[in-house]
Amino acid sequence: MIHPQENADLTALNSFAFEARAQYLIDIEQESDIADAVAFTEQKQLPLIVFGGGSNLILDPFLPAVVIRFAREGYRKLSETDADVLVEVEAGHNWHQLVLAMAREGWHGLENLALIPGTVGAAPVQNIGAYGVELKDRFVSLTAFDQESRHFVELSAEQCNFAYRNSIFKSECPGRYIISRVRFRLSKEFVPLLGYGGLRQALDGARPTAEAVLQTVVSVRQSKLPDPAVIGNAGSFFENPIIPDEQFAQLKTRFPDVVAFADRPGYTKLAAGWLIDQAGWKGYRQGAVGVYDKQALVLVNHGGGDAKALMALAAEIQRSVAERYGVNLVPEPRRYPKPSV
Ligand code: EPU
Repeated sequence: MIHPQENADLTALNSFAFEARAQYLIDIEQESDIADAVAFTEQKQLPLIVFGGGSNLILDPFLPAVVIRFAREGYRKLSETDADVLVEVEAGHNWHQLVLAMAREGWHGLENLALIPGTVGAAPVQNIGAYGVELKDRFVSLTAFDQESRHFVELSAEQCNFAYRNSIFKSECPGRYIISRVRFRLSKEFVPLLGYGGLRQALDGARPTAEAVLQTVVSVRQSKLPDPAVIGNAGSFFENPIIPDEQFAQLKTRFPDVVAFADRPGYTKLAAGWLIDQAGWKGYRQGAVGVYDKQALVLVNHGGGDAKALMALAAEIQRSVAERYGVNLVPEPRRYPKPSV
């Protein structure tokens, strides 16, 4: 049984804390509610939008849509070997709570992904990643309701076509699948992954325990990223641009200090935060919105801001970065409803 809530307030459900309402909001308590919510959406002739933790969204004041969100939490071990465990998690489970619970169980591999806001069901959509690990590195498969076939389907990692901050749920078939459960393979032995410089330095040389890595990731994130409970934000606002090596070589001659990392062969990933910072935007404020003063890749709502003001600021930053470096910045969060132009 579903209980659609009409003209629902979404202000507390988006991490930018923009004032917003949805025509309908439905809490999904059990998997069978999904088909009911889809039928309700069709009957109302509205689009359906799935919310995770609301931490990657830019909301306009009114969403003429049915918003659904997963109320159910929980995880279970499906199978195990001497080396690892297969764990299934409900879409509504809070991501960071899962990272903590897995560490307590002694099931390793998610430590570097601590403190990422949002839910487990939203995590595959943009293949969340941080400190040298991406969701796809631990992912096995997921269960989703396919709005085309009207059936639940199981999708493997290969079928999800994960890439940097991307998957089929974002590019090839946005809106088609409603993710209800996600399965991960986690290891009983802890192998620290310290390829990311900032993490290695903070851990100071010694081979760290799982707990130490998890706690260090938490403190590195807390030192750079604003807490959405205090100041509205959606983490990194732009993706780090990936450009061909030749273009990078030219950029490097003009900007020898440019911060970049090798990507797939022939491509280099630029630190968008460096580009924005060096272009002079860090700490900039335009009315109620601005650029965070400790991390230029994060745009913030100081209070009372809205999607329009934020997108105007984002457009100015994009223009300035394109002019200075010849690089296009692509926003990471998604805007609803989609602008008509
Ligand atoms: N930098 C600056 N000035 C800044 C910010 C960054 O010069 O204001 C330079 C620094 O040299 C730094 C480099 O950029 O070494 C990279 O910055 P940082 O380590 O903070 O990481 P990032 O590239 O800004 C990415 C992810 C984060 C993730 C971290 C750690 C993207 C778009 N962002 O940020 O993910 O936590 O790496 O792995 O890939 C998110 O997606 O919301 C997010 C927070």
